[in-house]
Amino acid sequence: MNDPVRIELVPLNTAFQVERGTPLQDVLFEHGVEFPCGGEGHCLGCRVKVLDGALPATDEHRRALGEEAVRAGWRLACRCRAEADLRLEISQWEEAILVDHAAVSFEPGRGLGVAVDLGTTTLVAQLVDLQTGTVLGVRTGLNPQARHGGDIMSRVQFAVAGEGRERLTGLIRRALGGMIGELLAGARNDPGVPVRVRIVGNTVMHHLFCGLDVEPLSHYPFESEHIGPGRFKGSDLGWGGAADLEVVFLPCLGSFVGSDILAGLLATGLHESPSPAALIDLGTNGEIVVGNAGGMVCASTAAGPAFEGARISRGMRAATGAISQVRLQDGSFECHVLGGGPARGICGSGLVDAAACGLDLGLIQPSGRLADRRAGLPLTDGVALTQADIRELQLAKGAVAAGLRILLERSGIGAQDLAAVHLAGAFGNYVSRSSARRIGLLECPQELVRPVGNTALLGAKLALFDDADEDYTGLRARVRHVPLGSDLRFQDVFAEAMLFPEGTG
Ligand code: FES
Repeated sequence: MNDPVRIELVPLNTAFQVERGTPLQDVLFEHGVEFPCGGEGHCLGCRVKVLDGALPATDEHRRALGEEAVRAGWRLACRCRAEADLRLEISQWEEAILVDHAAVSFEPGRGLGVAVDLGTTTLVAQLVDLQTGTVLGVRTGLNPQARHGGDIMSRVQFAVAGEGRERLTGLIRRALGGMIGELLAGARNDPGVPVRVRIVGNTVMHHLFCGLDVEPLSHYPFESEHIGPGRFKGSDLGWGGAADLEVVFLPCLGSFVGSDILAGLLATGLHESPSPAALIDLGTNGEIVVGNAGGMVCASTAAGPAFEGARISRGMRAATGAISQVRLQDGSFECHVLGGGPARGICGSGLVDAAACGLDLGLIQPSGRLADRRAGLPLTDGVALTQADIRELQLAKGAVAAGLRILLERSGIGAQDLAAVHLAGAFGNYVSRSSARRIGLLECPQELVRPVGNTALLGAKLALFDDADEDYTGLRARVRHVPLGSDLRFQDVFAEAMLFPEGTG
């Protein structure tokens, strides 16, 4: 690093170095800070207080936060760059988790809770004081199963061969046990304090953590009977120092619609909403729910890994060196690279932007073909989109758009009747809504789309306080699973949805 500055985050006392001038949003996310509106500057969820160092205040800060708060040192992290050494207080780690979700009844509990989002790629665990709702610690990490397959289906293939399932179960239980052990080591002075753990994840992660056979998920009709909650003591999981923990992996909503989506319903309140809305989690597996308090339908659709930057020639995760945004400036591509410096590759949000710009310039045709038989679309020195990259993107966006169209049809709701489209997950947080609409990934009006951040983690936190219906039987009974694989129309709708909309370019 040429010109580093040091950033320290309190109250968790995490410290690290970044290149001077790095946008805070690029680095704080990797340290467990959420950007609920995707960095658009309107949710105020990314507030940080400058304890030491300087972050210049702009008019935008004053308008959003008020003069008094700005004078007290508050800033929006999504609107700042690290130009000097900084000591920052992260407001979202201090606040009771339910302050923005007053509709959800919240009974203070006793002891400590750990909410875990077990993703195919990443792991996040937050330690919560159940009396006050404040976050006492955060740990993030990579899912160690990834060395045996990056996406869900390759993980399933590994699991069904030989001893694969036991290996994957052991890896994830040890990884989470280690993270939870570290969180508790600094916080539980009295071993008699009860600790509950609520884990959410997709159906494959659920099966692998719970030690269930994933073979039924490896072939048509891709359905498993064992989608209920998994209950354990820490001792069942080999968590020596945390043997007394009460651990629940929340139930799935259907095959390939996991408890991460159930958590998303809890976090967005869609299941209690009088108006129809949609929740979409854009990952390798696009998971979608449509409906309202009266009833919901859900489905999963195999989007493939393009949104996570995989199977793209220069694709990469949203990390330092990834092109995360592409805009047109005087007819040329202008790229934002995470962390500054030269581009090493492109992540999902950059890919969607690049395709939208390519369509606007007429360099990509509505069929997806590159115009004039060109071999690629150069974005920066060394990073270009190929024809195969565009095809991967079409497969991903076609699968999601087709899934949403069919669920809307099945529920008798028109896209124009939706009150909101909640976009969950890291990719959903960062993808540009206008680019998503331009490429036909989201076919609803842009103003309906709300990036909602990590609803899986927030839902798991809400579940820590929920004693009434730990199995979520009532909620699950109101959600009907639609297996798209056996829907006769899906292939036709999918083929149509793979095309890019005609535009002005
Ligand atoms: S205001 Fe910064 S993420 Fe929403």
